[in-house]
Parts: sequence; structure tokens; C-alpha cells
Amino acid sequence: MTWFSTGPGLEAIHVVGGFAWDSIGKGTIVDVGGSHGSVSIALAQSFPSLHCIVQDQADVVKVAQTNLPPDLATRVAFMQHDFFTEQPVKGADVYLLRWILHDWSDAYAIRILRALIPALKQGSKVVVCEHILPEPGTVSKYQERASRSFDLAMLEFHNAKERDIDDWINLFGTADPRFRFLGFKQPPGSSLAIMEVDWPGDNAKANSICN
Ligand SMILES: C[S@@+](CC[C@H](N)C(=O)[O-])C[C@H]1O[C@@H](n2cnc3c(N)ncnc32)[C@H](O)[C@@H]1O
Repeated sequence: MTWFSTGPGLEAIHVVGGFAWDSIGKGTIVDVGGSHGSVSIALAQSFPSLHCIVQDQADVVKVAQTNLPPDLATRVAFMQHDFFTEQPVKGADVYLLRWILHDWSDAYAIRILRALIPALKQGSKVVVCEHILPEPGTVSKYQERASRSFDLAMLEFHNAKERDIDDWINLFGTADPRFRFLGFKQPPGSSLAIMEVDWPGDNAKANSICN
């Protein structure tokens, strides 16, 4: 996965530039399923006030901890956590899910999103970095073939799928109608779009699409 997730179009730099990380100041990011922490390390290096908690499975965390640059030891932490269970880090500013949901079917992706809810404070952001399937005929045949191949591969390997923008909006809304989809960016050269969802608090009304 480290090989895959640092390949062309998947470099951490797209995440670094694709969200207003400076807006959260000394805040905390929880990098859910963050593997060896390449994205969190890049974020911590670019934004010296940020704190990142990288969560993954026990074996992954064990190796990842040994590779953390020492100068980041006070701002990047690793934690074992199963993302199907309740999120233990409460009240973080951002819960980042990069390349986590696309290899799970809707039923499981919804469980992953719902497991975040007990931890969310008013204004917490859920930042989801994933491929957004293009409308048929809107990109080159070459790009379209790559997207559709990935979609089929997800079905074959994981009974999952790549999602178009309506699928993503429906997924967040089905997970909980209080999730507010704020929009997405497609950084140039990035295979993954950056979708922003926020949590308006427990009393908020149904899902609203702002842009
Ligand atoms: C496709 S990789 C993405 C890694 C990283 N977010 C990135 O973008 O480079 C999916 C990650 O989810 C982790 N993972 C799989 N099942 C998990 C679970 N139940 N709880 C926590 N992490 C899990 C894997 O170990 C892997 O690191």
C-alpha cells in the first residue's frame, strides 16, 4: 500500500495543498486508516502547529512508529484503532479518510462513517480523499478506462465500487442526514478529489449541499 499510495496522482502533496489546513491552527487531525503516516507526516512538516494522530491496525502501527522522523515525535502520534468501532479521539478538528472508503461497499462505508459520530464536535470536518467517477463521456477515453477499471477491480476484489459525486453525497446523507456535504476540490494532477463534510452539531437539520 505504501508503494501504491505514493504513486503518481496519489502523492501527499495533493492533500497538503487541497484543504485550508492553516485554518485549524494548533488543531488536531485524526488520520483514520492512515497507514505509515505519509500524509500526516507531510501535513505536520508543512503546518508546524498541527497535531496528527494516525490510526491503523496494530501491525501497521508497530512498524510505522519506528519510521517517524524524530523531530515530529511531539506532533505525530500513532494509535491502534479499528475504524469499524467507535472513534476514541473525541472533538478533533478534522477526521481525514484518505483512500479508505472506496474498497468497502456502502453497508461497510456507512459503518465507518457512523463510527465517527460519537467523537464529532460542532464544526468538526470529515475530509474524504477519494476518486470521484466522472460522468460518462466527460473525460478522455484513456482516463475513462482507468476509472472504470478501478471500479471493476473494487467490485472483484472487495465487493465494493468507485463512486460518482451523487453516490458520495448519498453515502454521507445515508450515514447520517446531519452530515453536511460542503463540496469538493480536484487538485490538478491528483487521482483523488478532496471532499469536505462538516458536522453542524446534534440539533442540525437534514443534509444540505452548499456548493
Ligand atoms: C488503501 S490504504 C490507505 C492508507 C492511507 N490512508 C493513504 O492514503 O495512504 C487503507 C488503510 O486502511 C487500513 N485498515 C484496513 N482495515 C482497517 C480497520 N478495520 N481499521 C483501521 N485501519 C484499517 C489498512 O491497514 C491501510 O493502511
